[in-house]
Amino acid sequence: MYEMKPEYYTGIASIDQEHTRLFELAQETQDLLDNDLLQDKADSLLHLISELIDYTRTHFSHEEEYQKSIGYANLKQHAAQHRAFEARLMAFDLDSIENDYQEQNKTVESLLNFLVTWLVNHILEVDMKYVEK
Ligand SMILES: [Fe+2]
Ligand SMILES: [Fe+2]
Repeated sequence: MYEMKPEYYTGIASIDQEHTRLFELAQETQDLLDNDLLQDKADSLLHLISELIDYTRTHFSHEEEYQKSIGYANLKQHAAQHRAFEARLMAFDLDSIENDYQEQNKTVESLLNFLVTWLVNHILEVDMKYVEK
């Protein structure tokens, strides 16, 4: 079960709300992986990745605006990590997954692993730095 844990909270309500949604999307990815009844996952996967791209863009821009407003010194490096995440999401090869159940599951699984690892590390190691007082 992917969801917010006490240690993920930054104390900035709007940011925490957005991180909560990102964990929900990770859980939706897990649910898609676990869904054995769905024979063709291509449409769901496409939908999920585009939602992830949209939502992370929104979240990253809010975060970067906030960092700018507080004069955060490492804004540039932080934004570079956001751009790298976006590039990795865009790089998922969705053309080669059609009609192959095993391949689809492999893609969903690699999306899930990437997403969860990145999210947890980024929130704990990188996001927490701009909220440190
Ligand atoms: Fe961030
Ligand atoms: Fe964040």
